[in-house]
Amino acid sequence: MLSAAAAERNKEPILAVLRENVNNGRPLQALEISSGTGQHVTHFAQALRNITWQPSEYDRQSLVSIEAYRGRYQLNNVMPAIHLDASLPYQYWGGIQPESLDLVVNINMIHISSMACTEGLFKGAGAVLKPRGLLLTYGPYAVNGQITPQSNVEFDYSLRQRNPEWGLRDISLLCSLAQRNGLYLEKIVDMPANNKCLLFRKESFV
Ligand SMILES: C[S@@+](CC[C@H](N)C(=O)[O-])C[C@H]1O[C@@H](n2cnc3c(N)ncnc32)[C@H](O)[C@@H]1O
Repeated sequence: MLSAAAAERNKEPILAVLRENVNNGRPLQALEISSGTGQHVTHFAQALRNITWQPSEYDRQSLVSIEAYRGRYQLNNVMPAIHLDASLPYQYWGGIQPESLDLVVNINMIHISSMACTEGLFKGAGAVLKPRGLLLTYGPYAVNGQITPQSNVEFDYSLRQRNPEWGLRDISLLCSLAQRNGLYLEKIVDMPANNKCLLFRKESFV
């Protein structure tokens, strides 16, 4: 069971956004893309029992950690983790069916992966979400070409030093990707530590 300090800090604020924006009265199907250690999915699954969660990861070591969390918490609403590369078409996403999901959650991946992952995330979410389904992304973003505050400017610089393909993405860029894939930005929620939750809704018909 790996433990990420950021996940420990942000799991409760993100859960609050899910509580506020996701129906708790009927059974729902969710996919988490880039589940990392497994801290988020097990936290959300304990609180939101009406949702069946499918964790996924690209990194093999993280898949082992997610399985360790599943073993520890014995949650019957968390499925075994699947290997998923967000940059690939959804047909390679471990058998996830088109228009089968109510919710896709993606935390702190968009700025720490190539643009192909972000493009794949929106394209795949557009395909696997049911009409009116929700894509929730969490992380730091640029707004109209501006990154604020200075700590996020420095974070963006450090990411680009580590990998030129990484870096904070602009919300307007994400909106155009969303639009191309039958989604629209419904809500922005400001989160602690200069992060945001972006809630993209799939159109009723595409
Ligand atoms: C900063 S970590 C965030 C992990 C977790 N969501 C969290 O918040 O603790 C970034 C994650 O993106 C994942 N990732 C990188 N490339 C990916 C890809 N092509 N497809 C899916 N996930 C990817 C990494 O394996 C890593 O777990």
